[in-house]
Order: sequence, then structure tokens, then C-alpha cells
Amino acid sequence: MKIPDAIVPAPLRKPAKPGQGGNGKGQAPADLKTAPPERPSHGERAAGQAKEAPAEVLAWVDQRTGATGFLTGMLYRKVPKGTNWYYTLGSATLFAFIVQAVTGVFLAMFYTPSATQAYASISHINNDVFLGQFVHGMHKWGASVMVILVFLHMGRTFFFGAYKYPRELNWVIGVVLLILTMTMAFTGYLLPFDQRSYWASIVGININGTAPILGPYLSDFLRAGPEFGATTLARFYSIHMLLVPGAIIALIGAHLYLVVKLGTTAPPWVRAEKPKVAAPATQLDAGTEGNGASPS
Ligand code: HEM
Repeated sequence: MKIPDAIVPAPLRKPAKPGQGGNGKGQAPADLKTAPPERPSHGERAAGQAKEAPAEVLAWVDQRTGATGFLTGMLYRKVPKGTNWYYTLGSATLFAFIVQAVTGVFLAMFYTPSATQAYASISHINNDVFLGQFVHGMHKWGASVMVILVFLHMGRTFFFGAYKYPRELNWVIGVVLLILTMTMAFTGYLLPFDQRSYWASIVGININGTAPILGPYLSDFLRAGPEFGATTLARFYSIHMLLVPGAIIALIGAHLYLVVKLGTTAPPWVRAEKPKVAAPATQLDAGTEGNGASPS
């Protein structure tokens, strides 16, 4: 696809062919002798330079990073026929994660992860901080949205057979992302430290403890000891805002790299077109000898 001239900086633009208007470093217009153009005024020149400025900045960055090649490959990549709205569920999950990350940063500015102050700090966010209740609400409801979206996205990839060769590794990365998303929801639930979150977390930790072999170790790790106490909150907070988000960001990077590298799966109801290859020489001759064989 041709990139419009307006966004290509002048130094990278193709010179115009002889006889075509004089753009950038191109040749002078054919009618230069007969009708010389008027010299642009100072103001016109400044306006022209201002118009070029964004493209010049982009060119400056591009010459130092080679970002255009990467972006062109990523944004102009081919997608299979039949790609539809279901393919947006992965990006929707990504968007939900970004919303969680941004709102989480603002909540962390006011939240205190201490057993004695956590509840009060959440009340402070909801009642006193400017837009506090709104941002807290976005984070709380956004958590459910992300969980729902990640399941829908997994369903899409499952029913479209996207877990098959060569995308098995991406499916496995997805499974880890699913577990990490659930871990985010679980560890975040304790943070308001009200009656509901306290007792729900005890139930959740006990359920984890019933897992075979690793269960007791897992529940001890989550509690930060044999008893549920003040250190449990600190542990949940660090898992929730440092450990798991870091892992999610790294894995989303790997997940998207594989999506771009391997391309997406076509929907199962779209049939592959027959490859257009030349018929073998023997078939080309078939029928011309009068042997009754018809070319297939
Ligand atoms: C934080 C969670 C996740 C994010 C942000 C995410 C993001 C994405 C995006 C943007 C795509 C490309 C567009 C699309 O096909 O929707 C994709 C593709 C894919 N995802 Fe995820 N994903 C997540 C979780 C999962 C989970 C839980 C699974 C499965 C267990 C999974 C398996 C796949 C597979 C197999 C593909 C390739 C699809 C294809 O080839 O058609 N992902 N993901």
C-alpha cells in the first residue's frame, strides 16, 4: 500500500518525474520558463515549514530507530479472509488491562496496604479524593470486565482452532495469562480489607490449600505464614501491583509477537483457496493424443 505523500518527510519523498510538479527535492515544473511562480512570502514559508514539522520529527526518530519498518510490518500485515468482530476480543482484553494499569497507578497514590489503615484509605479515596470514587469504580468494575473478556477471547481462539499448529505456544502463553488474570482478581479482592473481602480471601486461600501436593505450600505462601494476618495484606498487595502485572506485561509482549509473526487463524468456515500453480507438463499434454484422459 502506498503511504500518502503528506506524511512522508520531504527528504524521504521520491523525486517527482520530469514534467510533474516540483515537490520536495523534485525537478522544476515544466512550465517554469513560461510562467515562473511567485516567490512565497515569509509567512507562507513559515506555514510550509510548520506543516512539515511533524513529519520531520517522525523522520528524525525513524532514522535513529528504524521504527517505520517494524510499524509497517505490524500495521499493514495481511489478515485472513473472514476476519470478523470476534477477533477484536484479544485487543479488548488488552485495552481492559491498560485501563486497570492506569487506574491502579492512581489508586496506589492514595492506598495504604496496612491492616489498620487500608479500609480507611479506601474510604478516603471514595469520599474525599477528587474523582476518587470514579477511578476506584473503574478499577473495580474493570476487573470483572477483563475477566469476562479474557474468557470470551479464549473461547474464540478455542472454537476457531487457533490452539493448533503452529500456535500451540501462544495458547500455552494464553493459559498462563488467564491464570495471572485470575490471580489479579483474587489478590485485588482483599485490598479494601472490609468484612466481605477479608472472609472471601480466607475462603479462597483455603480452597487453594486443597490442591494436591502443592496446596498447603500455596496457601502458606499466600497467607505469608500459617495464620491470616497483617503480613497477608502486604503479600497480596505486592503480588497484585508488582509481581503479576510485570509478568502479564512480559507475556502479553510475547503473545503479541507471536500473533504478528504467525498471523491469525482464519475462521473454520472459510475454505482455503486452491493454490494457483501451473499444471504439471504431463497433464498439459493429456487429451491431445486422443487417449481419452481428461485433464482434472
Ligand atoms: C491478558 C490476556 C490476553 C490478552 C491481552 C490477549 C491478547 C491477544 C490479542 C490482541 C490477540 C490477536 C487478536 C485476536 O485474535 O483476538 C490474541 C491472539 C491469541 N490469543 Fe490471546 N490474549 C490474552 C489471553 C489469552 C488466553 C487466555 C488464551 C488462551 C488460553 C489466548 C490465546 C490466544 C491465541 C491462541 C491467539 C492466536 C489467535 C489466532 O491465531 O487466531 N490469549 N491474543
